[in-house]
Amino acid sequence: MTETSLTIPPRVFSGMQPSGNLHLGNYLGAMVNWVAMQRTHDCIYCVVDMHAITVAQDPHELRKSIREVTAAYLAAGIDAKKHIIFNQSQVAEHAELAWVFNCVARLGWLNRMTQFKEKAGKDRENASVGLYAYPNLMAADILVYRATHVPVGEDQKQHLELARDIAQKFNNDFAASIAEHGFGEEFFPLPEPMIQGPATRVMSLRDGTKKMSKSDPSDYSRINLIDDADTIALKIRRAKTDPEPLPSEMQGLAGRPEAENLIGIFSALSGQSKEEVLKQFGGGQFSAFKAALVDLAVAKLGPVTAEMKRLSGDAAYIDSVLKDGADRARVIARQNMDAVKDIVGFVR
Ligand code: AMP
Ligand code: TRP
Repeated sequence: MTETSLTIPPRVFSGMQPSGNLHLGNYLGAMVNWVAMQRTHDCIYCVVDMHAITVAQDPHELRKSIREVTAAYLAAGIDAKKHIIFNQSQVAEHAELAWVFNCVARLGWLNRMTQFKEKAGKDRENASVGLYAYPNLMAADILVYRATHVPVGEDQKQHLELARDIAQKFNNDFAASIAEHGFGEEFFPLPEPMIQGPATRVMSLRDGTKKMSKSDPSDYSRINLIDDADTIALKIRRAKTDPEPLPSEMQGLAGRPEAENLIGIFSALSGQSKEEVLKQFGGGQFSAFKAALVDLAVAKLGPVTAEMKRLSGDAAYIDSVLKDGADRARVIARQNMDAVKDIVGFVR
């Protein structure tokens, strides 16, 4: 380890887009890990509203969604006093650093991003420039705090690798200036993706080969964090399965994506390993397993949903949490952005 990497303190940053409904994938793939990391790290959790507008948003819906996602963070157990919760657009330094990164990242790097290809679809000419440059803004989100650890679901791995490439190229391109300004050998840390837990990729309830997603047209494909108990029960009962009984061993899940997904969800919600879940339900029919999964999902998600609904109704409170978080985030971001300006050669 170099001297400067020792001086960059560990810090967690992650974010979620306020677009559409939060679902079980967001909860198990990201939020549960965010909550756990509060015990060991200083954490900054962002509602990434500037990322949301890379595709068209209705302004009324966007505002509502920003508050709802904030409510979800709080309801899941993030402590906005000990840590930081805020929405991205209140800290202008994200956009400021993103511009510098637009000039560091290479077209060839962005051309490889699979999420852009998926989201832009066939009509690529008509995608916004923002959607294309999205990963640069994401790198700026993380690096404007010189964050070292980023808990995300599996689908964000490629974006995190790009953020590391950007940090490294900036450190190399400006090595002399970084040293000259007293930051030693590198200014940015290479942020570490934390892809953890038994549910890093929760799949659609209608198709075990597709990711559970906000944008799936079928609401039966996902469990939303705002779903009530009856809706959760209905969606789990209707979830696609295969005709075989559940296996007792992990090898028995091979080639059975729907079974594997439901077992993974049960495991993540219960805190048991998949092996333990299979030991309990192996040999049995899906109907009995699904009934147990409904009870578990309702017991675990019910309190989060109730608290989220309660908090969502209090816009003044939510807005005060966001403002307080933004004020504290901005102090860190400004300091780092001023350093970047000096390193790049801007006059301030
Ligand atoms: P997004 O909804 O795209 O803003 O994603 C917010 C967070 O949830 C990111 O860390 C994603 O990796 C994670 N996430 C989204 N969908 C899933 C899924 N189906 N399984 C696991 N994690 C997910
Ligand atoms: N791109 C992420 C997603 O869609 C959201 C995000 C934006 C993010 N900025 C981030 C996640 C910074 C982690 C760190 O899920």
